[in-house]
This record gives sequence, structure tokens and C-alpha cells, in this order.
Amino acid sequence: MSKMEVKTSLLDNMIGLGDMVLLEPLTEESFIENLRKRFDHNEIYTYIGSVVISINPYRSLPIYTPDKVEEYRNRNFYELSPHIYALADEAYRSLRDQDKDQCILITGESGAGKTEASKLVMSYVAAVCGKGAEVNQVKEQLLQSNPVLEAFGNAKTVRNDNSSRFGKYMDVEFDFKGDPLGGVISNYLLEKSRVVKQPRGERNFHIFYQLLSGASEDMLKKLKLERDFSKYNYLSLDSATVTGVDDAASFRTVRNAMQIVGFMDDETQSVLELVGAVLKLGNIEFKPESRVNDMDESRVKDKNELKEICELLGIEQSVLERAFSFRTVEAKQEKVSTTLNVAQAYYARDALAKNLYSRLFTWLVNRINESIKAQTKKRKKVMGVLDIYGFEIFEENSFEQFIINYCNEKLQQIFIELTLREEQEEYIREGIEWTHIEYFNNSVICDLIENNTNGIMAMLDEECLRPGTVTDSTFLEKLNQICADHQHFESRMSKSSKFLNDHSLPHNCFRIQHYAGKVLYHVEGFMDKNNDLLYRDLSQAMWKANHSLIKSLFPDGNPAKINLKRPPTAGSQFKTSVATLMKNLQTKNPNYIRCIKPNDQKASHIFTDSLVCHQVRYLGLMENVRVRRAGYAFRQPYEACLERYKMLCKQTWPHWRGQARDGVEVLLKDLQIPAEEYSYGRSKIFIRNPRTLFSLEEQRKRRLHGLATLIQKIFRGWKTRTRFLLMKSSQVTVAAWYRRYAQQKKYKKTKSSAVIVQSFIRGWKARKILRELKYQKRCEEAVTTIGAYWHGTQVRREYRKFFRAHAGKRIYEFTIQRIMQKYFLELKNKTPSMSPSDKTWPARPYLFLDSTHKELRRIFHLWTCKKYRGQFTDQKKAIYEEKLEASELFKEKKALYPSSVAQPFQGDYLEINKNPRYQKLNSLVEEKIIFADVVNKINRANGKGTQRIFLLTKNKFMLVDQKSGHQIKSTVPLAELTSVSMSAQSDGFFALRVKEGTTAAAKGDFLLNSERVIEIITKLYRAGLNLTKEKIQIEITDEFLVQFKQDKVCVKFIQTSPKNGTTASCKRKNNRLLEVTVPSP
Ligand SMILES: Nc1ncnc2c1ncn2[C@@H]1O[C@H](COP(=O)(O)OP(=O)(O)OP(=O)(O)O)[C@@H](O)[C@H]1O
Ligand SMILES: [Mg+2]
Repeated sequence: MSKMEVKTSLLDNMIGLGDMVLLEPLTEESFIENLRKRFDHNEIYTYIGSVVISINPYRSLPIYTPDKVEEYRNRNFYELSPHIYALADEAYRSLRDQDKDQCILITGESGAGKTEASKLVMSYVAAVCGKGAEVNQVKEQLLQSNPVLEAFGNAKTVRNDNSSRFGKYMDVEFDFKGDPLGGVISNYLLEKSRVVKQPRGERNFHIFYQLLSGASEDMLKKLKLERDFSKYNYLSLDSATVTGVDDAASFRTVRNAMQIVGFMDDETQSVLELVGAVLKLGNIEFKPESRVNDMDESRVKDKNELKEICELLGIEQSVLERAFSFRTVEAKQEKVSTTLNVAQAYYARDALAKNLYSRLFTWLVNRINESIKAQTKKRKKVMGVLDIYGFEIFEENSFEQFIINYCNEKLQQIFIELTLREEQEEYIREGIEWTHIEYFNNSVICDLIENNTNGIMAMLDEECLRPGTVTDSTFLEKLNQICADHQHFESRMSKSSKFLNDHSLPHNCFRIQHYAGKVLYHVEGFMDKNNDLLYRDLSQAMWKANHSLIKSLFPDGNPAKINLKRPPTAGSQFKTSVATLMKNLQTKNPNYIRCIKPNDQKASHIFTDSLVCHQVRYLGLMENVRVRRAGYAFRQPYEACLERYKMLCKQTWPHWRGQARDGVEVLLKDLQIPAEEYSYGRSKIFIRNPRTLFSLEEQRKRRLHGLATLIQKIFRGWKTRTRFLLMKSSQVTVAAWYRRYAQQKKYKKTKSSAVIVQSFIRGWKARKILRELKYQKRCEEAVTTIGAYWHGTQVRREYRKFFRAHAGKRIYEFTIQRIMQKYFLELKNKTPSMSPSDKTWPARPYLFLDSTHKELRRIFHLWTCKKYRGQFTDQKKAIYEEKLEASELFKEKKALYPSSVAQPFQGDYLEINKNPRYQKLNSLVEEKIIFADVVNKINRANGKGTQRIFLLTKNKFMLVDQKSGHQIKSTVPLAELTSVSMSAQSDGFFALRVKEGTTAAAKGDFLLNSERVIEIITKLYRAGLNLTKEKIQIEITDEFLVQFKQDKVCVKFIQTSPKNGTTASCKRKNNRLLEVTVPSP
């Protein structure tokens, strides 16, 4: 627990007393008064030490919320006001932390709230134990087993609308961490007689009503049932509905719970079929048939119902019918079949219904156990919760009540034993002397019932087994004989005349003084119920059913397993199981919840003193308190005690530094409590009288007021002081900051003022200096100027006599002249050679001579050219002129031209006037021959050439036969030559065109070929120009037309690679085309 957590105690804000142990004075009145006071304030729980008394409020109180669960979780038992959660928490924690198996024993009479209490404990444990998907499923299954078992095992009785008609003990198993693993349910003797008959104002088991109200039409049809309760003999009509209970809704809850617990759909269906079958069994009626030997034999009256049951359960109708009419007894390998009379048939029918139902119930418990059993074999811790039918007294009490009350008697005993033992053990543990205390021990009553030799049960068994005629009255007789002297047994038949006149005790009854009161038992039915016999024919009929569930419920019907030995009687079975339960409980740490019923009206807010008083008495609660207080009423661990009362003594307040026990000693001595009032145990202080505790509490309360004031005072002082200190320090901080700020501001202001003043002064000073400097500079300038002028004047005055006017200009001109002289002389020496092609020229000495220098160079060049030209003779000049002409005509126009440049134009290559071969020709021409050479005249027919001598004179050109050397083939005056055509390539072909209409034109144009074509054309051109002053047209093109007589033929020049020959050749392609192939250069 953290230091800050407020420690509370049960003793805080108590209404009445939370723990009865503190009751002072301890009387029955004060006890009940305390209960009533608390009950009126909705405090339904009260402690007696560690036992919880719970009073049924008969209404839902807001004390089971999740918040409450949290409040009680992990708190000490006495820390908060009494609650069932405190007990559950204590049990769970000691199971988890101290590894102690626990059992929670819930006792009280019918309707006192045991079942509700057990559910509260379970739900609390479920809420506080571990979480997780798997754990949650286990929890859910454990919790959901309740609605299923309640539907089948609870019924409305006059005492309780939801009365448990069976005993239930459930072991919840946990692992070492405290997480639930699973559980085991044990059931004890279901009150099966209720199936066939219910007392007035009571109902059959809930499930019948739930099924009829809640099942769908469809399902009812399948089960062959009708919704109307009144149709069924087994459902008493007077209280078919219970106020505040919705059977249909409960049916849905039950089915849902069955699903959660793990019932398969077909299992649920089978269960409901059986429930239906039981209901329908009640409707089978019998009639007497015939008399054989004075015996009437029964027959089923209306076979329809029987048929439906057989269909529902898969039984052959005849088998069941026979089982209701005959009874087979087997004795010593002999089978004797006797008929049943009507009464016996009814008895058989009811026995079957009861058996069917109770076996179904046992099967349900086993089936649930199968689902909820722990899935591990690890060691488990166990918390058992016992919720058994409460002690009950009806108008007519039978075997069932006897059994139920016996069970309660046993529980009371174990309560007495364990509480006493525990109390005793605590004293021993704590080393305190134990003083014996008187209390009523009910072991005598238990002995009366269960004693093996002369107990009531033993005698009942004996009577059942005895051969001969045995009836309930023979049993009663026997009781009367044997138990007559027992102080808790009362019977009118008893010889002790004490009860002979007691008319409240009928003859067929006996009465037992139970610990909880006297109960009158009617012996009728005791034998029968104890025997619990089902005719073998019936069990065999059931075993034969074609319905797996019903077959499994009746293994004794299997003829192969016939057991002639009698099964143990119901009473002895119950006795054994109770004995086992008791043994089981004794190994566990017990926790008690004692339930009390406040009124008989099942109403809230009503507290009937007499009723409560009765229960307080028989539950032995007063004894419980007395035992608890024997010697010491109150005990508390030293630490808790010191913590609670330490403020009562200066030495222990506020802190005790030593052992808690020493602290308590100091405390008690200081308070001057008489030494006999308390005792020191090993870990606890034991206080004898509650008064002492109350006086301690009183003092504590008063002291707490004082302490509260003190704390308040100190707190207020502290609060004000801290506030003051905080404010003071805040004020100092604020002031400091403000001062700093103000000083900063002031400083900045002063500083900036200083700077301004300073700057003004500096400016003023600087300006003053500047002014002075400027003045000084001006003075100096003035002085210099004046000095310069003065010097000038001085010098001029001095040198005037040496200078004449315009001397400067002359000197300048002279200087220039000198420079020019020097320039020309230098140029003369550096003049380059006379060759016009020499491009060298000396560098320019002065920039101003630039244009002169360039001009001189140009002139020099022209001059060298002129000199060069002057060397030529007239003849050579003419040759050059011709060459020049050729260049103008052909340069960059004809590819042949460059090769002609280096060759001198000789003109008469044939030397006509000298060569004797051409003597005759020479005489024929008469004129001076300008050009003579052999050319090829191209033949139009085949493109081949014929050699001709080409002659050119001043006026005409001629073509002369080369072979004869003088036969003139054609003569064309130059005036009739209009144009010349040739290619741009390196070939020698050319065409000479003659003016049309002339005599020369008759033969057409001439297509010739000569290496000297350049020279020929140049000369032709010059001669033509000289003669006619008109230029002959020269056409340079790679394709031109030539007029041969009438035809025009196209001459085309094509370049070929040099591979195809080095000379151009002409070929006739067709009539109109001559192709000249020219090798490319
Ligand atoms: N703590 C409670 N808060 C509100 N109602 C309660 C409480 N305890 C019991 N009741 C009411 O009292 C009725 C009877 O309680 P319960 O069934 O627990 O009695 P019982 O002791 O088990 O009786 P029986 O011995 O007949 O089984 C409940 O149906 C419920 O209405
Ligand atoms: Mg109950």
C-alpha cells in the first residue's frame, strides 16, 4: 500500500456494529437490534469475526457494481464495511498467495439467499482473477453452468421462488497464478418427487414452464407439445406463473447458456425431447381391464399420448405399453410376470417420470463437468463453493426434507467444529490461554440420523431390505422402538408417555428436534423413496429406445448386465456423498456465509424479529460470537493497532521507530488501560472487552478532531507562509528585473546623449580643421600660381632678348624636314629588289607617315612593273597579248586551259613557207598565215576524225587535205563565222558555226579536234575582232548543237574514269547524238 493511501477500517462510519464481536452487552436483543439497524440502512452484511452474516434484502441493491469490485479488490478484510466481496477477496487471495485451498460454505434456510451469495462470490472471483481469451472462456463457461442447472434443478416453492431442489458443490480450479483452469460440479439428491406432484402454491421445475412458454411453434410441434400448461397433469395449475419471472426469456437464456457451456445442438434437442417426454408421461392414464383372480389389470386409456411418447423417444409402443401392464420379477433364475393394477400402473408411470428426470439431471451435471473440466494435469488450487438446499420445514415434510435437513445438520456441525477449531488454533498460535466456552453441539442429532447401527437412516435401509411385508408404518414402529429414548426424537407411538397427548404430533409421523427447529416428518413414502425402485421392465423398455441419450441414461436396462444385487438405497447414497463432502471440506480453509431470511413474505424492507431471532438461534450465531469472544472480544495485528491508535500517545505519535508490539505496549500503558483488559499474542493484541475498544475508538475520535485541527492549523500556517514566501521572492524578482530594466534604459539614454554631444563636438572640430586645411590649400595654390606667373614673368623678362618671333614654327618645320630626310634616306637604303613579284617593304618609322608610306609602296610597285614591261620586244608583246587574251577567254572556264599556259603560241607549226611540201599550198593562200596545224575533222557519220590542215589568215580560215598537202577542202571568211562552241573539260573538241545563208554554210558547221584548241580559238577571236570589230561568240558548254548540212546533231561531253583511256574519244550514239567521253583529270 502506498504511503499516501488513506487507511480505513471497518470501524469507520459504522452503522450499528460491523462486527458482532464488539456487541456490548451481548444479548439476543442487542444482536437482533444491531442486525435490524443495519438492515434498515441497507447494510445487509455483518461480520462475526471472519464469518459473514447476510440478510436477504429481497431487492437489488447497488452494491455489486464493478466499482465495488474494484473497491474491495486487494483490501484487507476489516478495512472496509462488511461485504460478501471482502470474504471472496480474502479467500481468493489466500488461495493465490498462500497456496491454501479454500471452501466457501453458504448456509441458511430456504430463501435466505444462498444461491445468490454463491453467484456473487463466483462473479467476484471471475472479475478479479486473471484475464485473457482462454481464461475468459473458462470463466464464462463456469458462470453459465448456473442458469442451466437452475432451470433443471430449481423450482418455485412457498419459501422461495427460485428454490434450489438439489445440492450443489462446485470446485473451481486455479493455476499457480490464480487464473481459473476449470471446475467440477457435484450434485446432491435432486428432489425428484416434484416432477410428478407439487404441493399447493408450488411449481414443478422451471424448465417445464420455460420450454412451453419459450419454445417456438416449430419446436413445440417437433416435441409434440402444446403451449397450454393446463394440458399437462404434471404441472399443477394454481401457480403456473411466478410474478416477476419471464419464463420465455429464461428459456432463451438457458439455451444460450447451454451453447456457451458447450452443448451441441443435437444434445440440447435430445434433452428437450426428454423433458417433453416426461411432461407427456403424466398424461398417460390407465383403466381397469378385466379381473383375473380378483385382480384388475390396467390398460392404457388413451393410446395417442403413448404413441407420441414412443415416437419422440424411439421406443416401440408395444414394449412400453406392456411395461405399464406387467411386471417381471426375476428370482433365482426364474422369471415371474405379474400384472399391474391401475394404481401400480400409475406408480410405475410416475416412477419412470421421476427416474427419467433425475437421471437426465445427473447426465446434465456430468455433461457440464466434461465441458468445464480443467485441461491440464498440473497441480491446481481449489476453491469450493457449497450451495445446498436450505433447512426447510413445510406443512408436510417427507423423505426429501428429511434428507435436506440432515445435510444442513451436517453443515452446521462442520461449522461448529471448524470455527471452534480455528478459534482454538488461533489462541494456540498466538500463545494465549484458551478458556472453554459452552455451545450447543448438534453431533447428537447427526448421530440420531446417521448412526450406522441405530440411526434413522440405517433403520430405514434395514426395513427396506427386510423380507416380508414392510410398509412405512412398520418402519415407524421400528423407529419408535429404537429411538424412543433419544432426546431429539419425538413420536406419539413412543412408549415414553411424554408425547402421548401431544395432538400436534399425528400418529403416522415422527418429529426430530433439529438444531434449527422441530420438524414433523410424515413417514408415508419414506420406504418407497428410499428404495427408489424402477420396475425392470420399464428400464429395459427405456434401454431399448432408439434415442441415444435415453438409452445411455438407462444402462441398468441392458438385459446382458442384469444385476440381481439391490442398488444402494437413496438414503445411503446420500449419506456416503455427504460424508465425502464433509471430508473434502475439512481439508480446506473454510469461509462462512450465513444467510438469514428477514421475512416470510419474500418482501423487501420487512424485518420480522421473531423469524430472524429463530434463525439466529438455530444458526448458533450467538454461540459463534461468544466463542469468538471467549476471553477476548477483539484482536488485531500489532501493526494495524498501532497505526490506528498511535495518536493517543506522545511516544508513538507521529512515528514509532521500534517494533510494533513494543509500540502497542507503550501505547496501552500510557493510556492506563488495566492490564487484565488485554493480552499480548505473538502477532496480535487481544482485547478482552469491547468496552475497552470502544473507549479507545472514542479517544481516537476525539484525538482525531484535535489532530485535524492541528493539521489544519499547521497546514494553514504552512500554506500562508509558503504563499508569503513565494510572494516575497516574487516581489524581489520583479523588483530586480524592474531595476535592471530601468537602469538599462537610463544607461542607454545617457549613452546615446553622450554620443550625440560627442558627434556634434567632433563634427564641429573636424569642420574647423577642414576649414583651416582648405584655407591652407588655397593659400598654397595661390602661392604656386603667383610663383609660376612671377617666374614666367621673370624668365620671359630674362630671355626676351634671346628669342625672335615665329622661331617655334621654324624649329618645328626644320624638325619635320629632318625627320623626312632621315626617312627617305633610310627607305632608299632599304628599297627591295626590282622584281614586281617581290612583296617585301621596309617597316614604317613614324605613325604620322602611315599614308605616305603606303602610297610610296604602291608607286614603287607600279614602277617596278613598268620597268619590267619596258624590257619586252614587239613580237614578245604580241605573244603576251595573245596569252592574256587566252587567259581572259578561258581562265577558270575550260579545264584544258592551265596546261596551255606554259606552252608558247607558235602559230605556224607546219612552217608552210619554208617546208617544200607546202610550197604549192603557200602559193595558193597568198596571205600571211597566222596559224597552221593538223586537226581532226569529226565525221558526222561515225564520230571518227579525218586529218585536215587548219589554216588561219587575217581574213579567213581554211581546211586543207592533209594527204595531198594543197587541196583546199573549205574556205570560210571570218566575217561568216558567228560562234564557237566547246566543252568546259580537258578535251580538244570544238565546233565552228557559220552564218546561215552564206556559201560556206552549205557544208554546215565544223566539228574539229585539236590539242591546241586554246591557241586556235584565241587566234580566231583576235583575227575576227581585228577584221570585223565584232566579237566572235565563244560558248563553253558540255552539250551543244552542231548543224551538219540539214541535220542538227547534239554533241554531249561525259566524264569517264582515266582507266578507259587517256584521250577523249567521240562516238556516234544515234542520228542526233554524238557522245564525247573525256577522261577526268
Ligand atoms: N443479495 C441479494 N440481493 C438481492 N436479492 C437477493 C439477494 N439474495 C437473495 N435475494 C433474493 O432472494 C431470492 C432467494 O434467494 P436464493 O435463491 O439465493 O435462496 P436460497 O438460500 O438459495 O434458497 P434455497 O435453499 O431455497 O435454494 C432470490 O431469488 C432473490 O430474489
Ligand atoms: Mg438456492
